[in-house]
Amino acid sequence: MGGFDEDVADAPSVLHPGLLESLAADLAALNYTVGGVADFVGQEAYAALNRDQLVPVLLACEEELRAAAPSPLVVPILLWLVGGTLTQDQLDLAFPITGAHGLQALRLIEPVDAPAPDALRRAAVELRPYSSDADGDLWVASDLGALQRPGVLRHDHVLGIGGASLTLAQITVRPRVRTALDLGTGCGIQTFHLLSHAEHVTATDISPRALAFTRFNLLLNAGPLGIDPGALDARVSLRLGSLLEPVAGQRFDLVVSNPPFVITPRSTEESPEDQFTYRDGGLPGDDIVSGLLADLPGVLVEGGTAQLLGNWEIPAGREWDERLREWLPEGTDAWIIQREVQSPLQYAETWLRDAAENRDRAAYVRRYADYLGDFASRAVDSVGFGYIWLRRAPGRAPAWVRCEEITHEVEQPLGPHLGAAIERGDWLASAAPGGAGTALDQGGPHQEGPNDNAPDDNAPDQHAPGRDLNWEYLLVAGDVTEERHQRPGAEHPGVILLRQGAGLRRTTLLSTELAGFVSACDGDLTAGQIAGALAVLLGEDGPDFVPDLLAMAGRLVLEGFLIPAP
Ligand SMILES: C[S@@+](CC[C@H](N)C(=O)[O-])C[C@H]1O[C@@H](n2cnc3c(N)ncnc32)[C@H](O)[C@@H]1O
Repeated sequence: MGGFDEDVADAPSVLHPGLLESLAADLAALNYTVGGVADFVGQEAYAALNRDQLVPVLLACEEELRAAAPSPLVVPILLWLVGGTLTQDQLDLAFPITGAHGLQALRLIEPVDAPAPDALRRAAVELRPYSSDADGDLWVASDLGALQRPGVLRHDHVLGIGGASLTLAQITVRPRVRTALDLGTGCGIQTFHLLSHAEHVTATDISPRALAFTRFNLLLNAGPLGIDPGALDARVSLRLGSLLEPVAGQRFDLVVSNPPFVITPRSTEESPEDQFTYRDGGLPGDDIVSGLLADLPGVLVEGGTAQLLGNWEIPAGREWDERLREWLPEGTDAWIIQREVQSPLQYAETWLRDAAENRDRAAYVRRYADYLGDFASRAVDSVGFGYIWLRRAPGRAPAWVRCEEITHEVEQPLGPHLGAAIERGDWLASAAPGGAGTALDQGGPHQEGPNDNAPDDNAPDQHAPGRDLNWEYLLVAGDVTEERHQRPGAEHPGVILLRQGAGLRRTTLLSTELAGFVSACDGDLTAGQIAGALAVLLGEDGPDFVPDLLAMAGRLVLEGFLIPAP
């Protein structure tokens, strides 16, 4: 798609650089930050706001307004977080540099009724403080949600920072890279994070309004994001267009995307205006996700990675990961973690509620039935949601595919843990100089559960050449603890578990010999020496004992219970 207007009439204005600077100065002086707002309304009320409950914050604001000299911080909170109305005087007082006129010129507020000078003003958009470890305090404009502006959302609604946005930001592995792509940027949240470790970010969206919000947010936060407002292109390119079309012919070190993955019933009469662009890519079923899995490796440099969130349909009688594996192109490493599974009914209810479509009863009944009919037409039994990590395989080893289901709570931010796990996987897959190499299973559907280290029934998809653990020194990772359970009076424990305190917080069941192996992993002996000593101790002279133990130790390394000694 060709050029596009930088300034879009119904999005915040970027035509007044001076006003953006004034606004940043006013917001900083007000202490309109995550910490400032939480202290002002109280931690509990702030937590309620994050659960989409406005009342506690509204009550805190009303109490403040009754005070003899209310804090001016009440003004932006009432305006942009609660969706309340304010007078010009209140706005001028709270924003002494920008003034009510400036806020209106930036299209952040609007008159409630007629544009009379004394009319009350209300928010035209949401402007919310956001805080990130890398960039500090930011302000992020997006469309008002259904709570602040009742009614069904507009179809080109620009999403604020939501649970999925934060999840993707937290699971992203962040090496320093030259080029990054944020596909479907929305209000720009992923781009803000990418700027802390990418020299240049390309942010794309099919919505000109989304790109206008992102541009506004980048310019408003130019200082903390390390951007020269006069030379935005030096750090960020904003591109309008669908999926990979705006970056045809380009390659990136890193791609992140929280794409419009919501499965939506299609109808022959619908037009693009009928689709909620923030969640619906306009394709049937899970075609958005299958298309991205197939095409994203093609825009990666060799060794480049992509991370995205997605939904996938699980047809009756098929394993959840079968279709995902079929979508992946040759030469792609992939690690897919299924985090949640919903029935078609639960799925329909979630997404009808999300867009406030449950307010019109007749339409709700019709749309609910549409969802069920749509899923039934493809024999969909359930819908999976999860994290997808892809890598254009570096070429030095065969590509691997790993699919596992982890539905328990994990530790966020997960990105550093995923990065470390991938490094361990690469270490295991690479033959040590002079090492003979043992096969390592990186594949097969894998469920977290008590039989993790039982002999593996899952046929591995690919075998990496593999590191021979015989010669390696291993340590127990710092967050790992062991639990032993035994019947009262029993001589030996019936169950030995290893638990991770951090990252994916896995639990795994150990056999007695594997527990013995782990307890000896203190870096003094090689894995081969430990396994050999255990064979003697336990009187195990079969040819498989040591290789089997080392293969199980390899899985413990892959999963992060054991780590290579430095
Ligand atoms: C779920 S929102 C994600 C926004 C933001 N990146 C985040 O993490 O919160 C999906 C975004 O993709 C955009 N989008 C929808 N269809 C698209 C398409 N075909 N190509 C590119 N972007 C699209 C929407 O406009 C929206 O901004």
